[in-house]
Order: sequence, then structure tokens, then C-alpha cells
Amino acid sequence: MTTSVLVGFATRYGSTQEIAGEVASVLLEAGLAVNLLPLREIHSLDGYQAVVIGAPLQMYRWHKDAVNFIAKQRKALAQIPAAVFAVGPVQSPRVEQEWIDARNQIEKELSRFPWFKPISVEVLGGVFDPNQLTGLMKTFARVAPASTARDTEQVKAWAGGLVEKFYQPE
Ligand SMILES: Cc1cc2nc3c(=O)[nH]c(=O)nc-3n(C[C@H](O)[C@H](O)[C@H](O)COP(=O)(O)O)c2cc1C
Repeated sequence: MTTSVLVGFATRYGSTQEIAGEVASVLLEAGLAVNLLPLREIHSLDGYQAVVIGAPLQMYRWHKDAVNFIAKQRKALAQIPAAVFAVGPVQSPRVEQEWIDARNQIEKELSRFPWFKPISVEVLGGVFDPNQLTGLMKTFARVAPASTARDTEQVKAWAGGLVEKFYQPE
């Protein structure tokens, strides 16, 4: 039986969806069966042997769809390996403090679920585009210029490392 992996994502402005697509492609090319779905559309993990959960950090919090997903899927997540990624840092060239802050933010969010033991937790670079913002967010963030820390090579390297952890020999 082919190892079946679910890649679930939440996104606000689209960059995390793109990254989830890159993760899914790497797993697919490695021979795993992969489904790519928004976390809020996933109601069961039946039939999957592994799951990837990806969502952006915003205003110091992880996207609520990811938090809700982990809370709801407690039983299933105790049965299969899970890998987590949080999209956050946006500055280029890399600003180390931004990565440290994002790491602390995702660790804090995951500490709400002491029973949850992901096999990997990765912070990945994202995109900041003030033109996408609306309402209060726009007022809050307009001062900062557009920037991106998107790094497909980083995504591929991380996803590639998951393959052997997920793979279940037939
Ligand atoms: C209003 C706003 C607040 C943000 N707050 C954080 C934050 O607290 N920590 C962080 O690491 N990144 C933060 N970011 C960066 C986002 O995580 C980044 O833009 C990400 O690529 C957005 O993902 P999405 O395109 O999937 O919505 C923020 C971005 C915006 C626009």
C-alpha cells in the first residue's frame, strides 16, 4: 500500500498555500500519495499514514484554523506522524531576530498541546505585501515596505527530510 499523506494548510494572503503546494510536490515526487487541502475542510484523518500541518503566524499568533485542527484531531494525531510548519519571517536579507521571534511564537502556540509530538516543526519564510492588506491591518502595517523571505530551496530541503520519516515500506 502506498503511504498516504495529507498536507493541510491555512492561509490568509496565499503564500502558505503556495508553500504547502511545494511540500506536496516533493512528497509526491518521492512516491508518496498526497492530498493537499485547506485545514478547515478536513474532517477526518482516516486513511492517512501521515500529516503535514502548515499555517502562517500573524499578530504573534498561529492561524486559528491550525490551532483548531490540532485540538479537534487529537485522537488521530496520536496515531500517525505529523510535521508542522509556520510561515512568518518576511525580511530579506535575513534578519535573525525575526526568525527567533517566529520560532518562539510557534513553540508557544504548540505548548498549548503538550500531548502533541510532531516529528518536525519548521519556520519557513513568507511574503509581506502591504497592497494585500485591508482595514485595520492596512493602517497597522502600511509603514513597512513589501518584502519576501520565500525560499523554495528551504521548503524542498525540509519536505525532502520528511519523506523517510513518513514512508512506510509495503
Ligand atoms: C498584519 C500582519 C501581521 C503579521 N504578524 C506576524 C507575526 O506576528 N509573526 C511572524 O512571524 N510573521 C508575521 N507576519 C508575516 C506573515 O506570516 C507572512 O506575511 C506570511 O507569508 C503570510 O502568510 P499567508 O500569505 O499564507 O497569509 C505578519 C504579516 C501581516 C500582514
